[in-house]
Amino acid sequence: MKLSYLWRGVPGHPIHPPLTDATIGTYTFATAAGFAEVTGITQHAGAYGWWIALIFGLIVTIPTALTGFLDWLTIEWGSELWKTASTHLLVMVTATVFFALAAIFGHASYTHGNTSGGAYALTVIGFAFLMLGGWLGGAIVFVHGMRVLSLANEPAERAVSPVPHAEKDQAEGG
Ligand code: HEM
Repeated sequence: MKLSYLWRGVPGHPIHPPLTDATIGTYTFATAAGFAEVTGITQHAGAYGWWIALIFGLIVTIPTALTGFLDWLTIEWGSELWKTASTHLLVMVTATVFFALAAIFGHASYTHGNTSGGAYALTVIGFAFLMLGGWLGGAIVFVHGMRVLSLANEPAERAVSPVPHAEKDQAEGG
């Protein structure tokens, strides 16, 4: 057992990926709710959902980015994996900045139950960066194989349980 399991998760069960589900899901909802409002499908409800989801997304981004960053620190500096992961970092930070700007510049319209066109445009740009970052995150895992154990014949109950599997820290670049 290692102390770092507390923030990195145990081998086979990193903490960053499930947090990304919550973050991406929340920003996706914000984009969908804002779309409903700016296209007139909703009268106010979409605007409230949009702005509150942006704030919730920004809050969930904190542990998401932190756990990703702590994993990133374990990667060999300058390696090909590091280049992909660093691009992922930059793209996700960019997405976060756009969502934060959307929340800041959209606050006035939200208080009137509306989604301003400009703030929604910032949301859509943030969403585009979020999808690009997700693509790059996938490359970290599915191309470079970071934190992948590939234990195809691991008994299912052991595979899903939070027990530390065989350590492969060298292979995963950490
Ligand atoms: C809004 C913030 C972020 C989101 C939504 C996000 C999303 C993702 C996604 C979707 C993956 C692929 C995992 C999977 O397939 O389930 C991933 C992996 C990864 N991300 Fe992020 N990421 C964010 C921030 C960061 C930051 C700031 C870093 C720091 C460099 C980072 C580093 C990593 C690393 C190292 C992996 C490989 C898997 C792991 O170590 O857990 N991420 N990320």
